Amino acid sequence: MSEQPQVGLIGLGTMGAALSLNIAEKGHFLAVYNRTGSVTDTFVQTAGDLAPRLTPTKTLENFVAAIKAPRVIILMVPAGPVVDDHIDALKPLLGPDDLIIDAGNANFYDTERRAKRAQNEKFGFIGIGVSGGESGARHGPSIMVGGTEADWARVAPMLEAISAKYDGTPCASLMGPGGAGHFVKMVHNGIEYADMQMIAEVYSLMRDGMAYKAPQVADVFENWNKGRLASYLIEISAKVARAEDPISGNAMLDVILDKAGQKGTGRWTAIEAQQLAVPVPVIEAAVAARNLSARLDTRQRGAEYFGDAQKALEGEGIAAKTLEKALIAGKILCYAQGFEMLAAAATHFGWDLPMPAIARVWREGCIIRSDMLNDMATALTNNPGDNLIFAEPFSGLLKDCEAALRDTVIAATKAGIAVPALAAGLSWFDSIRTRRTSANMIQAQRDYFGAHGFERVDGKNEPHGPWAGHED
Ligand code: 6PG
Repeated sequence: MSEQPQVGLIGLGTMGAALSLNIAEKGHFLAVYNRTGSVTDTFVQTAGDLAPRLTPTKTLENFVAAIKAPRVIILMVPAGPVVDDHIDALKPLLGPDDLIIDAGNANFYDTERRAKRAQNEKFGFIGIGVSGGESGARHGPSIMVGGTEADWARVAPMLEAISAKYDGTPCASLMGPGGAGHFVKMVHNGIEYADMQMIAEVYSLMRDGMAYKAPQVADVFENWNKGRLASYLIEISAKVARAEDPISGNAMLDVILDKAGQKGTGRWTAIEAQQLAVPVPVIEAAVAARNLSARLDTRQRGAEYFGDAQKALEGEGIAAKTLEKALIAGKILCYAQGFEMLAAAATHFGWDLPMPAIARVWREGCIIRSDMLNDMATALTNNPGDNLIFAEPFSGLLKDCEAALRDTVIAATKAGIAVPALAAGLSWFDSIRTRRTSANMIQAQRDYFGAHGFERVDGKNEPHGPWAGHED
């Protein structure tokens, strides 16, 4: 029997269509709308058994009228001005207690602004980060919610039902008010960039340093996926390395241009980390590597002018076990930085970000899902406020894997194979274990040219060096 929907979804692109089917499958009746009406028709026609739960609409007026008040309206449209356009268009049509949910990859500042503005409106607005790509949206994404406790109480039953489950626990949680959900999703994406980059770097060591063919790389990744590195990204890396190009018959990886795309969420993470003065060098290196990959002409010119950087690794190369350990260390260092950034944001924005819950919602459904995240959730619960590297099992793993990371970075550097993210992780790890850094030189320079002053190691109150009044 058909019921009047209480939920509606706008934007039937890949993610919106998949999420609509997921919502309908969990028993909800749903009004759907897409700016291009034929997309709505095709979507409902191909929805199979779920079609009776979908109400296609062709105008926003009909869409809103089709939903029973108080309405929940999910926006799955491109992030940016399109979201504002839809809110503006919906505004005159909405009633008291209607709620708009922006489920796109919004910049969290936009979500903050929209949530604040909605406080003066009769309807509510929340922003949720949704991760897991098309298959996640269809079968269970990881969901990071920004809103009030009351908003969460209202949407939790539906969001928990459609979310991924880890051992039966829904991967959907309230992160905090306003833009907190989208902030956490942004950091997820920064970590995603770093995870992907480090995997690409060890792939490069195998391909360029040891002449592995793609299927050999697939073997290694498949093996790693049974151990500490078990994760979605390692799993799909094995699959893409195994795939053949139907056109040329060559390994699929070998016919893909080495020019990485990006929609910008990793860049936002790096920018925000700088704003918060939190060092996240692994993520920054990953973003820079994507930018550099896109500069094909410069790379060609560099190789012609200075000679190709890459050479075979010395001797036997690097054992797969060593590479695995290097990647384990790099991954822990990257997550330690990501969680430190989340902690800094919590302080800065006055959010009570639930660190263990963040690790828990990332355990399943999202792109960075991995077995390690379960241990991270436990470590963050047992060691509140502490950096992950000081918590077991990660401190022990780092001690065990540090030498492999160092050996890998040294071997790569000698062979001219760029490993910017792994090297950045190692450098960060070295820096945070350095009792006396070289920043005394920076302070001296600042004081020399700008009389900026410094603190002395002996605590004496003489904040300037003997160079005051210099002539040069
Ligand atoms: C996810 C992903 C997703 C991301 C795309 C592409 O969690 O499902 O992070 O949100 O936007 O995968 O991102 P880039 O184009 O920036 O690589």
